[in-house]
Amino acid sequence: METLFLDDCEEQLETAAKLIKSGEVVGIPTETVYGLGADAANEAAVRKIFAAKGRPADNPLIVHLADFSDAEKYTEYIPELARRLAEKFCPGPLTMILPKNDRIPYVTSGGLDTVGIRIPSHPVIRRIIELSGCPVAAPSANTSGCPSTTSAAHVMADMNGRIAAVVDGGQCRFGVESTVISFENDDTVRILRPGCVTREQLLTVCGNVIVDKAVLSGLDNDEKAASPGMKYKHYSPAADIILVDSDLAGFTAFVGEHCGSGVYALVFDGEENEMPCKCLTYGADSLQQAHFIFQKLRELDRLGAEKVYVRAPSKEGVGLAVYNRLIRAAGFEVIRI
Ligand code: TXA
Ligand code: MG
Repeated sequence: METLFLDDCEEQLETAAKLIKSGEVVGIPTETVYGLGADAANEAAVRKIFAAKGRPADNPLIVHLADFSDAEKYTEYIPELARRLAEKFCPGPLTMILPKNDRIPYVTSGGLDTVGIRIPSHPVIRRIIELSGCPVAAPSANTSGCPSTTSAAHVMADMNGRIAAVVDGGQCRFGVESTVISFENDDTVRILRPGCVTREQLLTVCGNVIVDKAVLSGLDNDEKAASPGMKYKHYSPAADIILVDSDLAGFTAFVGEHCGSGVYALVFDGEENEMPCKCLTYGADSLQQAHFIFQKLRELDRLGAEKVYVRAPSKEGVGLAVYNRLIRAAGFEVIRI
């Protein structure tokens, strides 16, 4: 199929919305990463998303709505705590797992009785939801297992010929996917996937915030993932990624002993002159690192990198999201110095 490349003017957003309404899949910008959007209530359309990504059928999709009040239409029940969180963080990079009702097919929820609801803030996806009148199911717009996409060109690189259209809305602001939470009780949420709504921010509304074990470690083969996506190797470029948890001096010495052709370092801004091998940087602080991480992982492939030693980011605040993506890209291979 020919993939249309659309811009974000009203007329082209109408084209995108019509495609979604008619059961097609469209690459759409959000404030986190690009999504592969389709009508969440249309089983055949949702199957096209799984096919385009090569995604396992048991990995559920997030449903995007224009306003949190619309969540009533697709859920059995909304806890009071979810309403308070929505007041503070929606629209924005937060996904809440809620009990679904039968307007959300099991294809969309990966066979689960719950659905992830997100109210995105990016004007392009918001307009497409409005114009189509559909709840929009959208996973990140990358081939399953590869780094997520943060520009329309990256979506084209993975999806050209596999989906009906891509809408160019520029570079995504946050660069990593939304924070995914579930509800433990009246006062407690569990972070299943960290994002740019941080644990510290959630604690301004919730009495208690649990960080799920799978956020910072791999699961054993017999363990069940609270969030199915967390059990797969993920976000991974062709190059072999190795996370090195160390201060700058330890990192530099380690890389010095391991340089060679095809070897790269991925370090913080300002550290490039210290590196004894080819290197790229991915930002000076956690917000910048979130913004750049997927773009840099893709760039390393373009450069033909075979092995990449990544200077491990902080696990504080937004850093936890960056660390979570990198340990998965590294297949949990972390060297601690
Ligand atoms: O920022 C984002 O969340 C982006 C943009 C496009 O909105 N979407 C995104 O979708 O990252 P995806 O499918 O790539 O990741 C969704 C994650 C997966 O790890 C999935 O397992 C989890 O959320 N998830 C979705 N629905 C769930 C549910 N009902 N229960 C538990 N985990 C769920
Ligand atoms: Mg994804």
